[in-house]
Amino acid sequence: MSKKVIVTGVAGFIGSHLCEALLDDGFDVVGIDCFTSNYDVRIKKHNISRCLENTNFTLIEESLNTLDFTELVEGTDYVFHQAAQPGVRDSWQKKFDEYVDSNIRATHRLCEAFRGHNLKRLVYAGSSSVYGETAELPMSESHPTRPLSPYGVTKLAGEALCLLYKQNYGLPVISLRYFTVFGPRQRADMAFHKFIKNALHGQPIEIYGSGTQTRDFTFVSDIVDANLRAMDYGGDESVFNIGGGARITLNSVLDLLLDALPGETDVRYCDTIKGDVSHTYADITLARDQLGYAPKANLEESIHSEVEWIRSLRGTVPGY
Ligand code: UGA
Repeated sequence: MSKKVIVTGVAGFIGSHLCEALLDDGFDVVGIDCFTSNYDVRIKKHNISRCLENTNFTLIEESLNTLDFTELVEGTDYVFHQAAQPGVRDSWQKKFDEYVDSNIRATHRLCEAFRGHNLKRLVYAGSSSVYGETAELPMSESHPTRPLSPYGVTKLAGEALCLLYKQNYGLPVISLRYFTVFGPRQRADMAFHKFIKNALHGQPIEIYGSGTQTRDFTFVSDIVDANLRAMDYGGDESVFNIGGGARITLNSVLDLLLDALPGETDVRYCDTIKGDVSHTYADITLARDQLGYAPKANLEESIHSEVEWIRSLRGTVPGY
């Protein structure tokens, strides 16, 4: 009998890629997504079109905050909790309620639903935003967690909830702290997506700050690989950094992006945005040693694949 897997946030950037990989590996996947309108829902529908063609896939369109889990918990082997209200810069003021509902309350509800049900693994989509500003690079998992954004606070709270259910109830939790993920289906609020879309339409690109900030950019296929490795991990560690293995300034990565795009693009430098950290760089020693994780993506080639994906939205999604 094939194993039953749940992917929350299945129509999102990472959830949809992960779901395809699990279906390709022969799992039965129940995908949950409430299609929040943080960006054009047509992109989310597009993301899961391949999954919907697979008879081993079932889609549940509902919020984790209202869903009745009673039947779902029976016979489920693995849960990949990718659903979240994402985005660092948008998490201030009134929006914070949405972050609390999606990242804390929903995670708490999921943990409550699955405790005591013989789950083999719950993988939580953690975030590098839990670290905040740091003088110590690369950051290891033991680095202090002092988020700089309200979003980071909610991702840290979600992770802490998962870990306390592990400690108290034996819920088999692993948190993977993702570092700025990119590639086809990247969210519309994220830098590469905005830059490529604007450049293709002759619109200016806005850089927040001087462009000297650095990021450890991680290609989405490496993130999927880390999730699959976390499924069968037999060791004692619970929290892993998952990065791309290098860091680069925003200015340098912008040069690579512009090389991959036609024509001239106007680049404008603007004020920094509150919540944005100056640098991220993952120490991935633990993931390497314990999970056998080794990022494989080449930055230039991976950028091209995101450019091609954005081009492919033309004619399907208005504005592309
Ligand atoms: C990303 C994700 O959006 C978060 O959801 C995730 O939790 C986080 O990574 C993480 O590592 O945990 P971020 O690093 O801000 O956050 O990713 P991008 O939106 O791709 O931004 C990268 C850099 O580009 C930032 O310095 C940002 O200020 C800059 N940026 C972004 C611009 O200069 N202009 C823009 O229009 C957008």
